[in-house]
Amino acid sequence: MQPNLTIIDHPLVQHKLTIMRDKETPTSQFRQLLREISLLLGYEVTKDLALEPIDVETPVEKGNFRRLAGKKLCFISILRAGNGLLEGLLDLVPSARAGHIGLYRDPETLQPVEYYFKVPHSLSERTVIVVDPMLATAGSAIAAVERIKGAGAKEIKFLCLVASPEGVEAFCGAHADVPVFSAAVDDRLNDHGYIVPGLGDAGDRIYGTK
Ligand code: PRP
Ligand code: URA
Repeated sequence: MQPNLTIIDHPLVQHKLTIMRDKETPTSQFRQLLREISLLLGYEVTKDLALEPIDVETPVEKGNFRRLAGKKLCFISILRAGNGLLEGLLDLVPSARAGHIGLYRDPETLQPVEYYFKVPHSLSERTVIVVDPMLATAGSAIAAVERIKGAGAKEIKFLCLVASPEGVEAFCGAHADVPVFSAAVDDRLNDHGYIVPGLGDAGDRIYGTK
């Protein structure tokens, strides 16, 4: 087990993920479950955010409470499947900024091909959480994080739903400074670079394109 891998083993996450894995689960339910899961994953991935004290006057009395402090959050979605996680995360932290990196995996070479990149400025002053449901060969995630580091980000986390052992090893080897959060690490990759047992092609299952 990689030292910077956190498995999010919450019963609700595991239950919802099991339904998502079922090939009979329709697109509408898959998308809804991914949105629900993103809130639970977001809760875990943000649990070390710093707090600062603040005085607030309630209708009853003045008190000293806590609010988020320090660096602002930025979620960066690896298109297209990352958007299935992004929407719920933005509900959880409405003040967060969002960025998008468009990458698809060439079906022959399995190498990531970039087609879009738009991120907020001042990434160096933000905690950046890169999101994509699937970490398979890790080619996409490694390339995305390289690009995001190149844009100035210093503090980065990577959040996914299902990873392969090969993907976790490759990603942690390439970006040892980036903690990885996943709901599951499955058995292996198949010859086509799909996670086994996995849940199939996340983008196709979210958007019904197959
Ligand atoms: C999927 C997934 C990841 C990538 C993972 O995207 O959402 O981005 O594959 O594979 P890797 O770890 O081997 O790089 P895909 O390329 O199918 O694009 P899509 O989201 O546009 O469907
Ligand atoms: N991309 C996916 O969407 N699923 C996999 O299993 C591998 C890559």
